[in-house]
Amino acid sequence: MSATAAVHVRGVEKSFGDLAVLRGVDLDVQAGSIVALLGSNGAGKTTLVRILSTLLPADAGTATVQGHDVAREPGRVRESISLTGQFAAVDEVLTGRENLVLVARLRHLPDPGAVADALLARFSLVEAGARRVATYSGGMRRRLDIAMSLVGNPPVVVLDEPTTGLDPQSRLEVWRTIRGLAAEGATVLLTTQYLDEAEQLADRIAILHEGTIIQDGTLTELRALLPPATVEYVEKQPTLEEVFLALVGSQATSAPAGTPPGTPDGTNRTTTGTATRGASTDGDPR
Ligand SMILES: Nc1ncnc2c1ncn2[C@@H]1O[C@H](COP(=O)(O)OP(=O)(O)OP(=O)(O)O)[C@@H](O)[C@H]1O
Ligand SMILES: [Mg+2]
Repeated sequence: MSATAAVHVRGVEKSFGDLAVLRGVDLDVQAGSIVALLGSNGAGKTTLVRILSTLLPADAGTATVQGHDVAREPGRVRESISLTGQFAAVDEVLTGRENLVLVARLRHLPDPGAVADALLARFSLVEAGARRVATYSGGMRRRLDIAMSLVGNPPVVVLDEPTTGLDPQSRLEVWRTIRGLAAEGATVLLTTQYLDEAEQLADRIAILHEGTIIQDGTLTELRALLPPATVEYVEKQPTLEEVFLALVGSQATSAPAGTPPGTPDGTNRTTTGTATRGASTDGDPR
């Protein structure tokens, strides 16, 4: 399996002074799949994606991207990978289109204007393309940021906390964008602190904790790690996010399983008899 992985990490270690952040990380991302790297603040997610993008050398271990070793072939790795950083890297003074043209020029692509226009269309930013980025909403800015990292069509796309700080509607927009990337064949590695984001998007979920990947599997495999569930009937209250999305009339296309559909007229079902697989102790095992 790992021989065909688009991203292949074995035994990667990284310390900053006395702080051992990565202590032997193993991770595979199969071509064309979406993997979510889940971890708390400071777990080392950004450190790992910086190593994969050749921005930071590892102390030990190996990492390859599309078969190229990050330490020995950094140029080939950079051609194969795009990193959308944790903090948006767009130029506020330029328009959306100018930002894209700038990156296409920096990458020495033959027709920067055409590259920019194609990406504006793909990310539903055609109308906003002529406006300064300073006037964009957070979701638009994030989409532009992702679009900029896709100039040149890298096969491996790394997104560091793509939806942190976004409102629920913008999060859904970015989720749709990420699903679209995978549908077009890109390999996606994203980091997140949001468990629902991993549930919604990822084919596999890897949990980074105290310097190693402590679990890696599909959602079903991870759920199976908890004690056998008992079936209970509970009254499920809508979450505030569900209420918010119902009231503002979001186009949510993929509500989480078991979510009561929001009613756009503002009325809202407050209870549903939902069969919940719950461990016999308190709480939902998700
Ligand atoms: N250049 C650096 N110098 C010193 N310490 C660093 C450096 N980069 C990261 N660290 C430390 O390494 C640890 C991991 O940081 P990292 O940014 O990888 O975490 P993260 O999982 O991305 O967290 P967050 O969810 O907050 O973004 C933190 O304790 C951080 O302070
Ligand atoms: Mg980070």
